[in-house]
Amino acid sequence: MLDWEDPFAKPATGTDSAQAADSVTPVEEKEIAAVQPAANEASAIAMPTSVPEPDKASISSLPRANIAPVNPEDKRVINGMTDINQLAPFKYPWAWEYWLNSNKNHWTPLDINMTQDVHDYRHNLTMEERHVYENVLSYLTTSDILAMRNIGIAVMEKMSAPELQIYQARQVYEEALHTWTYQHCIETIGLDQSEIYNRYRVVPEINQKIQLANRRLNSVLRSDIDLKDKDELENFVMAYAFFGGIFEGCWFYNGFSPIFALQRRGLMKGTAEQLQYIMRDEVLHASFGIRVVKQIIKEENVKLDPVKIQEMWEEADAAEEIYASYILRDPILGYSKENHIGQFRFIANRRAKQLGFEKPFPGAEATLPWLDEQANMRKEKNFFETKVTEYQTGGALKWD
Ligand SMILES: [Fe+2]
Ligand SMILES: [Fe+2]
Repeated sequence: MLDWEDPFAKPATGTDSAQAADSVTPVEEKEIAAVQPAANEASAIAMPTSVPEPDKASISSLPRANIAPVNPEDKRVINGMTDINQLAPFKYPWAWEYWLNSNKNHWTPLDINMTQDVHDYRHNLTMEERHVYENVLSYLTTSDILAMRNIGIAVMEKMSAPELQIYQARQVYEEALHTWTYQHCIETIGLDQSEIYNRYRVVPEINQKIQLANRRLNSVLRSDIDLKDKDELENFVMAYAFFGGIFEGCWFYNGFSPIFALQRRGLMKGTAEQLQYIMRDEVLHASFGIRVVKQIIKEENVKLDPVKIQEMWEEADAAEEIYASYILRDPILGYSKENHIGQFRFIANRRAKQLGFEKPFPGAEATLPWLDEQANMRKEKNFFETKVTEYQTGGALKWD
């Protein structure tokens, strides 16, 4: 039974537990009496004398306020003036669909057996493969904290329709869950936690990618931003496009692919399975972010500078190339930095199209044709006899 006073207390066992849960011993009764005021004293303390008790009779006799319900047509993504506490009627029913769908993806990192990964890391991975594995985890764990701060602190507060914030609240939770997942992998494999978490600060090739994202985040991480100001609004839209379209839509998307390459060869399958769950979330995050960006552009009549957009893609491409040159300085079997950067450009074109932008890398082709299938969940089996962990959405996910 849960101890409401101490939720982390281990439940007592056997006869102790029955007694602990349901009864108070005479000695305990005296101790409780010694520290607690009598019931009438307690209520006197709880109600400060300076605050008058509400006069229920006079409140119920007040006329009802003549306030009309929110008209959904008046809602706006940003700069809206409608009551933020009224969820429905929806103006953005698609946002509610994201919320409903996101709730079908349930797992915790503890659900996945990592035993074989521990063995693989120690006995089956080459030095080059360990280098890839560790640096991918190091980059991802830093990135997910950044993603959480972006959506939870910089973005959510600027939304003025609650159906958008509800999904974003879930997204904040999911980013935290992803961070837990990496932590679980790092801890289970037995990596040096201080070193792995600090790596993004000491390895320039990882650091430059994080700093690029940090610059976008810091430019919108101010509650005094006036989104009625044209320049501020454009900057906010560009930052959200960066996070939805590039940071989540490309960098996470093929950030996982080196691990999926190991999984294809039967290595680090537990970690890869964790990443498959995360990828499901990230596909929704990217898609939702892109949709919100497009909605803002439409509602606020934003005109983005195509030169700045192209610069954003090229900056991200250059950062990804430097990162790939480090993590894949020696190619691993079935995966090279050329594969990695080629796939980035292919996915970038896809995201640009979704955003309504020009293709930044015309002619880029998929260099990892196996990725979509490998990344998809194929859960014919249950990990545990007693726990059903399949997605409820059913069928294969379409990554577009
Ligand atoms: Fe994430
Ligand atoms: Fe995300």
